[in-house]
Amino acid sequence: MNMEFNKLFAALLVAGIVAMLAGFTSSQVYHPKALKENAFPIEVAEAAAGAGAAAAAPAGPEPIEDLMAAADIAHGEKLAKVCAACHTFDNGGPARVGPNLHGIIGSKHAHMAGFAYSDAMKAKAGETWTREAINEFLWNPKKAIAGTKMVYAGMKKPEDRAAIVKYLESLK
Ligand code: HEC
Repeated sequence: MNMEFNKLFAALLVAGIVAMLAGFTSSQVYHPKALKENAFPIEVAEAAAGAGAAAAAPAGPEPIEDLMAAADIAHGEKLAKVCAACHTFDNGGPARVGPNLHGIIGSKHAHMAGFAYSDAMKAKAGETWTREAINEFLWNPKKAIAGTKMVYAGMKKPEDRAAIVKYLESLK
């Protein structure tokens, strides 16, 4: 009787070990496969989203200095029609929604006397509008000067920004 019990117990033990081993083995075989199938599409989606976001919103404006020589004033003048909704460009021209921009490159920020600039722009009144400063501002006004009241989404092509800067420089 005791002997029978030991045999039964041993049989159960062996069965248990076999089941454990089988479970372990199958988890080794199937689990990694299941992981691969789930993880792969997610990785692809994330990579695509990352690339898309990077393409849509680069961290900062490309420098325009190297593009200035080839920049086209006439192209800049055409692009400036968008700005003309809010700005005049002629010498002594009036303010519209925005200040007159004649001779803006080389002038200080908030250069037009009597114009109601934002506090953010007034805070920069000591700084000169260099090519680089205009490049950054036109790329994304709100990023360049947080709190500006210039409502303009930004000019994303560096060639376009170079052309506008060249046009602004030509207004002498
Ligand atoms: C919807 C109206 C609007 C448009 C469009 C617009 N601006 Fe402006 N701009 C403004 C306003 C308003 C200010 C004053 C911003 C402030 O005080 O924060 C300003 C300020 C500026 C300044 C700083 C002037 C200074 O005296 O410091 C520059 C440079 C400028 N704009 C260039 C441009 C150019 C170039 C374009 C076209 C690509 C353009 N803006 C399009 C409204 C506009």
